[in-house]
Amino acid sequence: MKRIVSKHPLAIRWFHWINFPVLAVMIWSGLLIYWANDVYRIGWGDTTILKFFPDSFNKALNLPYRLAEGMSFHFVFMWIFAINGILYFLYLLFSKEYKLIFPHKKALKESWQVLLHDLHLRKGLPPQKKYNAAQRIAYTGVIIMGFGSLITGLAIYKPVQFKTICFLLGGYEWARAEHFIITILFVLFFLVHIVQVVLAGWNNFRGMVAGFEVLPMPTPKEGSDDDSFETENTSQTNN
Ligand code: HEM
Repeated sequence: MKRIVSKHPLAIRWFHWINFPVLAVMIWSGLLIYWANDVYRIGWGDTTILKFFPDSFNKALNLPYRLAEGMSFHFVFMWIFAINGILYFLYLLFSKEYKLIFPHKKALKESWQVLLHDLHLRKGLPPQKKYNAAQRIAYTGVIIMGFGSLITGLAIYKPVQFKTICFLLGGYEWARAEHFIITILFVLFFLVHIVQVVLAGWNNFRGMVAGFEVLPMPTPKEGSDDDSFETENTSQTNN
């Protein structure tokens, strides 16, 4: 016997899936803009370990000479990104979903235990609700990053009108660097997120699409291979 357990509310699924293509357009159009003044690198003096970005990367993604196109896309989609993000945040607050996603007091210790478990260095997992401690920290981090990209973006979009924000971020040059670093962090988050989603499997992915997971009954009757379903309405499950 199996049970259907609701996991992600419809609103969260909409916010999540709108965010994905919109963020993709923001990153792509951001690259078109960045190409026109590609100043960042990792290195010291005349030594460069990594240039952002090598010519081969620019050519492969067809980035050169498309500054105006990049700006057009960036300045339209930023509104969708901002509105979707703000509505998502307000939804978390008003629906009390934030209690399931913001880190709790023991989050740091528990996320370490989750890491050891994922590396096969520890057997048990600490008890969890919708998300484990590592997920809570990662997802809350990405929400803060979303806020950071809006604020730093605003500062470099209108540095005169928003001079106070620009000043608080360390000036135009720093705000631009912070905007860039947050974008790199988004890409890194995305890569880890996709690996985790693939590892967690179809049931977990379907939860973010259809809103429910199919789980075994907590105490199955011995010898029963009944595959019928029962439904349950709680978003506080382990995954
Ligand atoms: C192909 C792209 C993506 C896929 C397949 C995907 C898949 C998923 C899945 C399955 C979950 C639920 C995890 C669980 O229940 O354990 C989730 C949650 C989440 N994802 Fe993604 N994701 C994608 C892109 C993104 C992007 C681009 C971002 C933001 C940068 C993002 C941010 C989040 C956040 C913040 C949550 C938690 C949402 C909440 O419960 O409020 N995802 N994602």
